[in-house]
Amino acid sequence: MIEAVIFDLDGVLTRSDRYHTAAWRKTCAQWGIPFGDGTGDLVRGVSRLESARIVAAQGGVELTADQLAAFAEEKNRNYVSLLTGMTREDVIPGVVELLAWLRTQNIPAAVASSSKNAPLILEKTGLKGYFTVIVDGSQITRSKPDPQVFQKAADALGVGYANCVVVEDAVSGVQAALALGCQVAAVGRAAQSEGVTYPLKKPDDLIRQLSVPVSPDQERKLH
Ligand code: BG6
Ligand code: MG
Repeated sequence: MIEAVIFDLDGVLTRSDRYHTAAWRKTCAQWGIPFGDGTGDLVRGVSRLESARIVAAQGGVELTADQLAAFAEEKNRNYVSLLTGMTREDVIPGVVELLAWLRTQNIPAAVASSSKNAPLILEKTGLKGYFTVIVDGSQITRSKPDPQVFQKAADALGVGYANCVVVEDAVSGVQAALALGCQVAAVGRAAQSEGVTYPLKKPDDLIRQLSVPVSPDQERKLH
């Protein structure tokens, strides 16, 4: 039984994952820190400050706590300036179809994001009204892979963890959802992660997977 679907935001609902990577790339250029192609994937789902630590370490640079905070702040300034231009066009294709379908099924939807900018993005892209519950990075103390953000969302919805499907694009998010005992749907590289029940090519693939009684094994063969 599915009681609710809990969505990550960046890279699942909107293209803002690309803006995170672009902002890190720009900030690294400003700070003279190398930024490799794989680094953007490593910080999916990870909090701002922890991401700063990972990005600096990947670039082979050790920063003091003060420098790390300044690095993270500068990245956020660069990121927010990219967000100001966001519109409905930044919503990932298939997302609105999936959210509209969930409404027809009376299955509530929530957002559970590590980002403190989540409310701004949901506002700018016009998605906010689809969600019964929104938990963002300002409401949590522990970032994914800790399950806190999903736990808060499920508790606010009043649903059992095992009856929630979490939709993620981050390995850290998949791990967090599994730690809470949720079912996991994933897009992008995270779809290959162990424990993913519903691997998705695009978000609205979940409509078919939740409607048709196909076993996860059969589903994998279809992909
Ligand atoms: C997550 C992103 O959604 O939010 C991470 O996947 C990011 O890459 C994190 O670091 C925190 O975002 P923000 O907007 O609060 O800096
Ligand atoms: Mg994400």
